[in-house]
Amino acid sequence: MNDRRISDNMEQLLNKQMTREAYQAQVYLSYGSWAEVNSFGGIATFLYKHSNEEREHMFKFLKYINDRGGSATIEAIAAAPVNPKNIGECLNAILQHEIDNSKEIDKIVNLAHEEKDWATFSFGQWFVKEQIEEESLIKDVIDKYNLASTATSQNHNLYDMDKDLASASQEGTLPREESL
Ligand code: FEO
Repeated sequence: MNDRRISDNMEQLLNKQMTREAYQAQVYLSYGSWAEVNSFGGIATFLYKHSNEEREHMFKFLKYINDRGGSATIEAIAAAPVNPKNIGECLNAILQHEIDNSKEIDKIVNLAHEEKDWATFSFGQWFVKEQIEEESLIKDVIDKYNLASTATSQNHNLYDMDKDLASASQEGTLPREESL
């Protein structure tokens, strides 16, 4: 019995995204290490936790590809980007990585729609939602950073922000979940 339930094109795209999620994990890991070395332990904790989330995303792709009769292929992961110069640059770079990642997820959903592959379409929806949350989460952190770095007692505020991020949630809130 042929239990293959995804097309060759879809298998290729899903594998590419699996590797990309592993790359996302590398980015967070690398920036987390940079933050730790530069004495921002709270920001480092936040970034390390998120690196683990990205690795979970990578694993979701692996499982899905295999469950649908395809074959997950573990490939080389691109090197993490160069270290940022400051926290602002670090956070903005992360946001850009997430926006780029959202566009890659859209490609999967688009192909699933085109192929009428509703299982992958449904699988992809989880990531569409996740990307909305992640972009929103990082934007919130950038807003906090902008507040802290422009206040008069700058160092004190940065210290508070750093403490805050050590216990910050990894979840954003979707617009449809908002209530007054
Ligand atoms: Fe798995 Fe933040 O993208």
